[in-house]
Amino acid sequence: MQVKPIKIGEIAVHNNVFLAPLAGYTNYAFRRLCKSYGAGLCCTEMVSAKGLKYGSENTKELLYTDDKEGVCAAQIFGSDPEIMRMACENEALAPFPIVDINMGCPVPKIYKNGEGSALLENPILAEKIVKECVKSGKEITVKFRIGIHADNLITEEFAKRMEGAGARLITIHGRTKDKVYAGEVNYKEIAAAKNAVQIPVIANGGVFSLADGEKLMKETGADGVMVARAALFEPQVFCVLTGTPTESTLTMFEKQMAWTRATCDERFTTVFMRKMAAFYVKGTRGAAAYKDRLFQAQSPEEILSIAKEIWG
Ligand SMILES: Cc1cc2nc3c(=O)[nH]c(=O)nc-3n(C[C@H](O)[C@H](O)[C@H](O)COP(=O)(O)O)c2cc1C
Repeated sequence: MQVKPIKIGEIAVHNNVFLAPLAGYTNYAFRRLCKSYGAGLCCTEMVSAKGLKYGSENTKELLYTDDKEGVCAAQIFGSDPEIMRMACENEALAPFPIVDINMGCPVPKIYKNGEGSALLENPILAEKIVKECVKSGKEITVKFRIGIHADNLITEEFAKRMEGAGARLITIHGRTKDKVYAGEVNYKEIAAAKNAVQIPVIANGGVFSLADGEKLMKETGADGVMVARAALFEPQVFCVLTGTPTESTLTMFEKQMAWTRATCDERFTTVFMRKMAAFYVKGTRGAAAYKDRLFQAQSPEEILSIAKEIWG
């Protein structure tokens, strides 16, 4: 794969292989792990612009970062241009020079509120949001889908509008909203958008191996790729994609545990690391029995001792 540095507005990013925002997963420890395995840029999970306005504690926790992580993007969702700009200016976003706007989320609650993928149906409002957010001085990027249904694909037109409104980079998930995360990725749509704009285009969808990443880049002509679910099963997928030296599953898991414990409480760490171990154990002999034991584990120590049995 052609791994190369990329610029997002004024910000130089190490390479063009990004970790996607993943609600419930891309916290500080997970992002730092993926970055250490070669990801050029990582993104927080989506946080509510309204939540930031009302100072929700939960929203602030989602935005923890430090210098060890390096440059990171924060993703926000919402539909009110002014509240979105205020979110970009919120103190909780101060450590994030890049703010991504979610225009792809298919979750019914979000869609019905006119947020996430609903903005694909309201391009004028989507433009207003980007224009307003640009005023904050952040580098604004947009992540969107190719449309709501296969019979109304909006990719090229939407990409041009986002560029015109001031987005510095766009990420295109090559599936429609109604397909959620299943089905083929539409390379042609991403390629058409890439040809229509000057800003960098990142292609997203279905990258689980080096061959997948190479194919997505080649077929779309995109400037880079974004990886989501593959990283949940194997954060070292970034080593494979970028040629970074890899580490064993046990070492990876111990690091993630340590960084999660350092930034989250014991209860969260236990629940979260149980969930992660269940992903990593997939495909291992006896996975079902290990998963049962993991879900009964009551502390990080217990989880670590099962991890040593599995991967030690
Ligand atoms: C559990 C889960 C959570 C996600 N959360 C977000 C999110 O917060 N923001 C976002 O833009 N996309 C989110 N996505 C979509 C992914 O970022 C990505 O676009 C999608 O999974 C396709 O990439 P993949 O085929 O590599 O998984 C989520 C996907 C999954 C499976």
